[in-house]
Amino acid sequence: MQVSNITASILDVACDVLIVNLFEGVKSPGGATGAVDRALGGQISEIIEREGFEGKLGQVMTVRTGGAIPARAVVVAGLGKAEKFDRGAVRKASAAAARRAAEMKASKVATILHGAGIGGMPARQSAQATVEGAIIGTYRFVAYKSEPDGHDIAELVIVDNDASKFADAEAGAARGRIAAEAVNRARDLINSPANEVTPSCLADYARRLASEAGLDVTVLEREDIEKLGMGAFASVAKGSAQPPKFIVLTYTPPAPSDRTCAIVGKGITFDSGGLSLKDGSSMATMKDDMSGAAAVLTAMGAIAEIRPPVKVMAIVAATENMPGGRATRPGDIVRAMNGKTIEVENTDAEGRLTLADAVSYAVREGADEIVDLATLTGACVVALGRGMSGLFCNDPSLESRLLACGKASGDLLWPLPIFDDYFENIKSDVADMKNTGGREGSAIAGALLIREFAEGKPWAHLDIAGPAYIDKDNGLVGKGGAGAGVRLLIEYLCGPA
Ligand code: BES
Ligand code: MN
Ligand code: ZN
Repeated sequence: MQVSNITASILDVACDVLIVNLFEGVKSPGGATGAVDRALGGQISEIIEREGFEGKLGQVMTVRTGGAIPARAVVVAGLGKAEKFDRGAVRKASAAAARRAAEMKASKVATILHGAGIGGMPARQSAQATVEGAIIGTYRFVAYKSEPDGHDIAELVIVDNDASKFADAEAGAARGRIAAEAVNRARDLINSPANEVTPSCLADYARRLASEAGLDVTVLEREDIEKLGMGAFASVAKGSAQPPKFIVLTYTPPAPSDRTCAIVGKGITFDSGGLSLKDGSSMATMKDDMSGAAAVLTAMGAIAEIRPPVKVMAIVAATENMPGGRATRPGDIVRAMNGKTIEVENTDAEGRLTLADAVSYAVREGADEIVDLATLTGACVVALGRGMSGLFCNDPSLESRLLACGKASGDLLWPLPIFDDYFENIKSDVADMKNTGGREGSAIAGALLIREFAEGKPWAHLDIAGPAYIDKDNGLVGKGGAGAGVRLLIEYLCGPA
């Protein structure tokens, strides 16, 4: 979707669909929507009156213009209650309206800035959220359909008659486009099947991105991984016929920076559970176990475009987790890169083993701050559902920055405790620790294990198992891979638009 901004009266814009909006409960629209209503002889107020259009968030109505204005049709998007209005509402309203426009086979769509007038939202934020909603909301995954259905909107024009808002609206729209495209790329990687998206495929993706975007890339092979002493990561890869890849992408800012942020993504391209095999229904969606990797890799593409003043290192320890003659057995003891030993009690707790070495590597490479994103535990999905990720953090400043970025980006986080007492649960009789700590508090046990490898550096662990893969439409993202964490990472590393 091409995105542009113009300063004009919406009554003058030629397009297939013009999107305006309405707060819930408003009977006679004001602002831009009021102007369109008057130009259409009061049709919008009439539909509100006669058909009971309420302006609920996600609701849309369509009005034909019959040539009264140069737009072929008008879509009115409900913004929900004015008291609850925020960027999340803008994304959903914009998504619903853009979906309707796509259903109407619109190729050129014009939209007002939701909430930048009557809603009082800064034009920059409104433009960003409007564009994110339109691009994320109309995503389709049809790569494997012989006869793809549906329609793509070719062009989105953001229209505002106030020239003083132009620069802000343009900057917000540009950021929204970059972020939303990154989100959709992550969704493509997650939705593509594990027989295609192998560790080698992720490595190729990283190499292609590096050459296109001007990033540095290193891919370590099995021998390198073993030579570096990454025994925890290597142990997960042993049962798979697919070779593991340890992927490092580095962005260096134009002006030298003394700060390096490492972002680490769990990259299990398929999690069968290994010898501690999952049952059929738990295994069914385990192609999504590389959602953390998808988030960090696609966010790096956005970072290369936005060029923030900080050095960023993206790390993915990519492998499948499969059973097989060479697979790691329950009871095996492995040694991670920092020398610590882990007893593998359950081969299905593989994510923390790969993250142990990935986080160690980040520390060794001089990261000042480490954020990992991982579909780590079913327990976190049970605790928080699919609407937010669990946030575990050993540093209050990093924690509060991430929480704020979560709110701003819409990739919501909820703080969970790294409760020291529970370290007892992962103590092993035969090694420094074991990779499971029983059913109770299992998301916390995962965080406690990974913390052992951060060596006291400011570190955050985002358990994205819930939001990574959505089982039903949430108003912005449809079923399937969601690209959770991509917008959060961009906000965290680049700041606001
Ligand atoms: N990838 C799974 C976690 C997961 C579960 C993600 C459901 C998304 C939805 C992870 O590797 C796993 O299997 N975790 C186990 C850990 C347990 C064996 C300690 C879990 O949470 O059941
Ligand atoms: Mn597992
Ligand atoms: Zn897993």
